[in-house]
Amino acid sequence: MTKLSLRHYWHPLATSNEVSEAPARFFMLGEQLVAYRWGDEVRIFKDLCIHRGAAFTAGGTVRDGNIVCPYHGWAYDGSGACVHIPSLQPGQPIPEKARATAYQAREAYGLVWVCLAAPAMPFPVWPDDAWNRDDYRVVFVKAYDWKASAGRVVENAMDMSHFNFVHTGYTELADGPVIKPYEVTRTERGLNYAYDDGHLLRDYVVEFPFLVHDRKSVVNAAGGKTWSDGDNAKSGDVTLLSFLAAPIDEVRTRIYVFVGRNHSLDREDSAFTAGFDIVMEQDQRIVETQRPEQIPTAISEELHLRFPDAGAVQYRRMLRDLDKAEAFVP
Ligand code: FES
Ligand SMILES: [Fe+2]
Repeated sequence: MTKLSLRHYWHPLATSNEVSEAPARFFMLGEQLVAYRWGDEVRIFKDLCIHRGAAFTAGGTVRDGNIVCPYHGWAYDGSGACVHIPSLQPGQPIPEKARATAYQAREAYGLVWVCLAAPAMPFPVWPDDAWNRDDYRVVFVKAYDWKASAGRVVENAMDMSHFNFVHTGYTELADGPVIKPYEVTRTERGLNYAYDDGHLLRDYVVEFPFLVHDRKSVVNAAGGKTWSDGDNAKSGDVTLLSFLAAPIDEVRTRIYVFVGRNHSLDREDSAFTAGFDIVMEQDQRIVETQRPEQIPTAISEELHLRFPDAGAVQYRRMLRDLDKAEAFVP
């Protein structure tokens, strides 16, 4: 039995095209990793050879799918077992301890994902099954690198009460800054809450710990307009903003941003992706200043207002519970 931790969740490691046949270095939760493709598989290991601690990415190669350490040529198969030590005399066995740490890898949504321990939750899904539907289109916007913790990034993506201050003229709440009561539900995968500003219904789908989807549907086309609406917004149009935060380490986060829509499919995608650089920069400027860098999970710390911060309070409780939870790990 071991402590459940962020290592037990799927996190996006890279975009699919950043991972090639050549081993390359990546970081997740403060750990240095090596990843490469072998046929249809992506193989991911801790970037460390048990022999003398060299990094595979210091010039390591791939032979028959095995990662070969650049220092003394030890080769490890997909399971992490060492299968060749060039310096051994014929007949000498490979020590059982000679293993690389292999991690679970998946490829989905144009990203390569990693889980550093037994997964505590099923693989992430998209609201509305948007990737698989003909009436929907999802496009990758960009990956943004922020000097902030993933928790702070997620809370920012969950928070609608900063819109009328940070994003003036972009994504303001149509009925102003006062936040009306709304209900937060804990789901199997995280949290869910919706907020109606008279123009848009923003449905927040949080997949614990670090994935946030902001599903905006037009409830009243005459009620206003935000930067990511089409020109002729009509009731029922859904625009889905997705923020997938990858915890590189405690104070660095990479945010993979996607935008999906079930409308204006004949229009250029750039009409819907163009505004993100500005809006993300508006957020980044603030979030990178937040201290402490890690969000405090004790609810007594910082000052929560009942309504704007109801989602964040639940989110902090989930993070706090993670600290206490235990999981069986093979
Ligand atoms: S350190 Fe890797 S083979 Fe020696
Ligand atoms: Fe924002």
